[in-house]
Amino acid sequence: MTITVIGHGYVGLVTACVFADFGNKVWVIGRTPEKIERLKKGDPIIYEPGLKELLVKNLKAGRLHFTLEYNPAIKESQIVFITVGTPPKDNGEADLSSVFEVAEKMGRNLGEHFTVVSCKSTVPVGTNKKVEEIIKKVNPKASFDVASCPEFLREGTAVYDTLNPDRIVIGSESQRAIDLLLELHKPLPGERVITDLASSELIKYTSNAMLATKISFANLISFYCEKTGADVEKVLDAVGLDKRIGRVFMNPGVGYGGSCLPKDVKALKATGDSLGIDTLFLQAVDRVNQQAKDNFVEKVKAHAPGKNLALWGVAFKPNTDDVREAPSIYIVKKLLEVGFKITAYDPEALENFKTIFGEKIAYANDPYEATKGKDALLVVTEWNEFRQADLLKVKEFLSSPYVFDGRNIYDPENMKKLGFKYFSVGRRPVL
Ligand SMILES: NC(=O)c1ccc[n+]([C@@H]2O[C@H](COP(=O)([O-])OP(=O)(O)OC[C@H]3O[C@@H](n4cnc5c(N)ncnc54)[C@H](O)[C@@H]3O)[C@@H](O)[C@H]2O)c1
Repeated sequence: MTITVIGHGYVGLVTACVFADFGNKVWVIGRTPEKIERLKKGDPIIYEPGLKELLVKNLKAGRLHFTLEYNPAIKESQIVFITVGTPPKDNGEADLSSVFEVAEKMGRNLGEHFTVVSCKSTVPVGTNKKVEEIIKKVNPKASFDVASCPEFLREGTAVYDTLNPDRIVIGSESQRAIDLLLELHKPLPGERVITDLASSELIKYTSNAMLATKISFANLISFYCEKTGADVEKVLDAVGLDKRIGRVFMNPGVGYGGSCLPKDVKALKATGDSLGIDTLFLQAVDRVNQQAKDNFVEKVKAHAPGKNLALWGVAFKPNTDDVREAPSIYIVKKLLEVGFKITAYDPEALENFKTIFGEKIAYANDPYEATKGKDALLVVTEWNEFRQADLLKVKEFLSSPYVFDGRNIYDPENMKKLGFKYFSVGRRPVL
């Protein structure tokens, strides 16, 4: 099959590489000449485990083609995926301008043969219908149908997730479109969920709102634990044993971040507001997330023995270089405001962090280097390399043995044995 993917971010590039690897011819349309040149040379631009290898392999095999032009890519393709960004506007609504812009450009270039146009971008209910209207307006003779095919991959495991989906959701009113998408996804495991357009669009938002709810719920319970001396991990371990609830993703910490959960909760709220639905529940999920970040900042302000801090982890989660809406951004801003000095280390995301903080903070190329002479260590992203770090070395390097763990990656008993003053989330501090 020949397909086109518009956009080459975390979703677009991974989707393109995986489908190329299955033997399809895949066009990828971008808008930045310099990035397209880098991609053509095998540089994925973003960091995702396993992505570079897939990119290089499929470029060599002649199955992946990067271009700035819509023609001939669209004319040749049986399926076109839109994977452009849908960032939040100031009022929380999803900004769909890129989706509509590429729909128009693509629509003008649709050929004579039948094509499926499918949004992989996360878009509010009704967006695929609008895409259909746009294409019909600019190209009334085009033979096409729209189908929603939301993406569920997670940054950090995007290649793995694309190869091992729990489910593939296809929403369309067109059996022809559904059949083509099923054919393309044939090599992949996972349940097939075939539904209408609106349900498919809503499935994606519902999934992300539920995931955000699990995290905010865990954080809310952590506040109770901190006030009462209970241990949030023990509470949630026991609660999670109930099969109706489950423990997965119910993680207390410094809150969720990234380019999906924060914006999708806000966008679902905005959709609800426009439909006259009381969105108090979603507002609460968002608010607890904010409180989780503030709670961490307050703990550092109250207990750090000095102003020089080492920060481990700035990415919004492990195994990614993405810092969009990362809790680290808010935490660093708040700490700088009250005079703290910060030296940050992250295995992949420092370059992106530098574009935000520049010289306002210092950067270290090595985790231990970051801790030398500092008054405390803050752990904000749970990279594996921090879990089994040499804590004795950290203690030796710090000027005072203080650790603020925003992800509960260390065992309080062990930290006590090692002689740290240890503050984590929803658990008694080790003093
Ligand atoms: N990142 C994730 O984990 C994830 C998971 C599932 C769904 N999604 C959704 O998928 C969509 C894309 O997310 P992403 O993380 O890949 O975003 P991204 O920012 O990494 O990539 C977006 C891509 O779209 C391109 N683009 C934007 N406007 C364009 C335009 N007008 N013309 C051509 N190209 C344009 C950008 O150049 C970039 O290549 C979003 O709606 C997001 O919510 C993301």
